[in-house]
Amino acid sequence: MSMGMRKGLFFAASLVCGWLFTGCDDGNIYPPEREEAGGPKVTMQVSFTGLEAWPVNYSLLFAAFGEDGKHPVISKIISRPASGNEQVTVSLSGLDERVRTIAIAVANKGREPVYSCYSYAYNGEQELLLPVSEINLAAYGRVQQQVFDSYCTRCHGEGEQAAASLYLTAERSYRSIVNVPSSLSAANKLLIHPVLPAESFMIDILTTDIVQYNHTDVLPEAEMITLIETWIKEGAKE
Ligand code: HEC
Repeated sequence: MSMGMRKGLFFAASLVCGWLFTGCDDGNIYPPEREEAGGPKVTMQVSFTGLEAWPVNYSLLFAAFGEDGKHPVISKIISRPASGNEQVTVSLSGLDERVRTIAIAVANKGREPVYSCYSYAYNGEQELLLPVSEINLAAYGRVQQQVFDSYCTRCHGEGEQAAASLYLTAERSYRSIVNVPSSLSAANKLLIHPVLPAESFMIDILTTDIVQYNHTDVLPEAEMITLIETWIKEGAKE
């Protein structure tokens, strides 16, 4: 039976049950272990900083990966908490012998990870609470991997030369942009001005057509600009 069909049936069954037992306030009539398929179980209990950079077109997954690290064996989409103070608790059960890593990761629509916020080498533990309590969604590592590596380095530093002599490759990007004056800004802005996105020329260039090579279509989703801005607002830390 396909997953979709199963979900459909389960939904239909819950409707019927809901109808049959309307007015009965004993919450225990449903098999409470339906989701807890048994077998090894891992739980995450974390709060998030950089909440503005919560993925929108992408999703945040709690996932167990096998050898390839690409296609989750089991995964759940984490729901956005209302605030950074809120702890989010999610469990995955039924981990099997294929599982090698457990991760909290930003993933595309195919549930392939594009950036791993946190990962844990899984060793067959039966019951595991991940040893992490806070995840920063606007970490520099995410800006590097999800933005620079994917959309910028092909012109800025990979291969022989870097456009505008600007290197956005992992080893060089931070030192090339944070508190570094832009060579093209008429207003002598810094490329990245910590805390102040509006004073950061990189944001200008990605949102307005102001240099010879128009950058406003380089990024396919607005949320990537939000990610850079959130990282800047939080101090542009490495
Ligand atoms: C197709 C090639 C290409 C891609 C992809 C590209 N750039 Fe550029 N970039 C350029 C060129 C060319 C210039 C110089 C423009 C000019 O001289 O007017 C430039 C200039 C810049 C500057 C200005 C540097 C300064 O000193 O003022 C910044 C900042 C910048 N790019 C950031 C980015 C970011 C961030 C990305 C990815 C989201 C990116 N670029 C992707 C070609 C590219």
